Amino acid sequence: MFPIAFTEALDEQRTWIVPAGETLPGDVGAEVTALSGSSKAGDVTVLQRPSRRPARVLVAGVGDGHEAGWRAAGAAIVRALDDDEHAQIRLPDDAPEAAVRGLAEGLWLAAYRYRSAPRPPRTGTVEFVVSDSSAYAHGLAQAHATATAAWLARDLTNTPASEKTPAWLADQVVAEAATRPGLTVTVLAGDQLERFGGLRAVGGGSVSPPRFVELSWTPPGVESPRHVVLVGKGITFDTGGISIKPRDAMKLMKKDMGGAAAVIAATLAAADLSLPVRVTALTPLAENAVSGSAFRPGDVITHYDGSTSENTNSDAEGRIVLADALAYAAERLRPDLVLNLATLTGANAVALGKRTAALYSPDDALAQALKAAGTAAGEQMWQLPMPTDYVDYLRSDIADRISAPQGPGSVMAALFLRDFFGDTTWAHLDMSAPSWAESADGELTKGATGWGARTLIRYLSTLDGSQ
Ligand code: BES
Ligand code: MN
Ligand code: ZN
Repeated sequence: MFPIAFTEALDEQRTWIVPAGETLPGDVGAEVTALSGSSKAGDVTVLQRPSRRPARVLVAGVGDGHEAGWRAAGAAIVRALDDDEHAQIRLPDDAPEAAVRGLAEGLWLAAYRYRSAPRPPRTGTVEFVVSDSSAYAHGLAQAHATATAAWLARDLTNTPASEKTPAWLADQVVAEAATRPGLTVTVLAGDQLERFGGLRAVGGGSVSPPRFVELSWTPPGVESPRHVVLVGKGITFDTGGISIKPRDAMKLMKKDMGGAAAVIAATLAAADLSLPVRVTALTPLAENAVSGSAFRPGDVITHYDGSTSENTNSDAEGRIVLADALAYAAERLRPDLVLNLATLTGANAVALGKRTAALYSPDDALAQALKAAGTAAGEQMWQLPMPTDYVDYLRSDIADRISAPQGPGSVMAALFLRDFFGDTTWAHLDMSAPSWAESADGELTKGATGWGARTLIRYLSTLDGSQ
């Protein structure tokens, strides 16, 4: 990511940027006032001053001054700048920390390019002009950790499945963890997955065998810290298996590990920000392939907790691998809280459209806190019910449940998962829809959005250490 730094002085050699309604000194100030650029968040008005200095001035609308407006402004500004253009943004004297955080997040998030994109990353720098930067350093650090996490989640999700095998993804986690103190990683493979019957069944059809990754951040010097477990669906490609997907539905299925990407990135960010809570990311990684060794409709799977599921549609593979991970969390980690993120059902988009995740939780306070974190972070979710009327649909004649019952898709998946959380406080986010953007939109770039990483970081940042 290109550098963002603080400075006290305007420099005429750089492009000047000013929030709409703010003033600049001298002739430029008069020109900007006369221009009266739009104050709508995300609008940018450009003043060209050929053969004078500064040669360009941008007036950026920031809306009502909330963080979201600053984030939209940052995104619009970076899109208006050339890749090699050095710029300075003059902040109002009374700007809150949230302005710096939102602006920096918007600048970095909208500047994202896939790590092997044909177009190289932008090289121009940005300076925030403030008289005293000390009040803003933390906000900038938060934005940096958040954008770094979103970039990583997007990179992992955008990576083609030919490269992104479960082993490759596990290696990425090991490599990222090695760059930060306080993190431990365990990767389970082969015989070590004996109790993970769901993960073995789903991964069994692929030449690239499954992995189970446990990444943990332990804060130094916090006595018995609260322990949050983040579980993320990590299907590196979802063909649907024997219950194969139609071609259009399969096209984007490299993104089916977006939940895993988000929980890994958020856990790394917890280390970057040294958050005073213990965070463990669990990711079952597998490719749902079609082959002679793929699991079949009618097969009965034994999960980590010994309970069984009858596979009634091998395209409902996400809940099968997540069941093992959730049971592992409940038995082995005894967490205070479990948050599950998964690109779980097409029904998410049918119910809530392209930008909103479906939120499920029996705990209203947790649901409210997650929604608030999402709103602050710029990611939307909407709580859906888990009506017990539908539980009967899960009944199987030969196992504890079936995997793909009739009924409302996203809700049924949540009802399936419910059993595996044990008595831990939990929430589940079906993020199939917002994990991908068909075109650039505000701080989102075309392709993987990294959805969930930003919300998780916000939420984790609200928790204090000891319980
Ligand atoms: N990975 C898909 C869900 C999905 C669909 C994610 C579209 C992103 C965009 C999931 O594994 C799936 O196939 N779900 C099925 C479940 C059904 C068979 C019960 C679905 O939603 O159709
Ligand atoms: Mn599927
Ligand atoms: Zn899937």
